[in-house]
Amino acid sequence: MPKMTFIERDGSRREVEAPLGLSVLEIAHKHDVDIEGACEGSLACSTCHVIVDAEWFEKLKDPSEDEEDMLDLAFDLQETSRLGCQLIMTEALDGLVVKLPAGTRAA
Ligand code: FES
Repeated sequence: MPKMTFIERDGSRREVEAPLGLSVLEIAHKHDVDIEGACEGSLACSTCHVIVDAEWFEKLKDPSEDEEDMLDLAFDLQETSRLGCQLIMTEALDGLVVKLPAGTRAA
């Protein structure tokens, strides 16, 4: 089973099992990681915002235009920001590391 790591707001790291085909948002929810995901993956909010570890960022598929548009609204936006609901676990992403942003803006 692939794994991924969430870096929580207090800096602690949580390595969790990351089943293939699930989004980072779904994986977070499975393990009670505090990512909201108000629209449940329909690209209508930015509350699933995560900051991807720089090393991993390049390995991700480019965001769609819709994702870019939503990301622009995200709080604490950074160079390697992505929407967690759009990142789908694959073998190639085994070991992925993402950080939770400092906060989210209400959807
Ligand atoms: S959960 Fe709303 S855009 Fe990802």
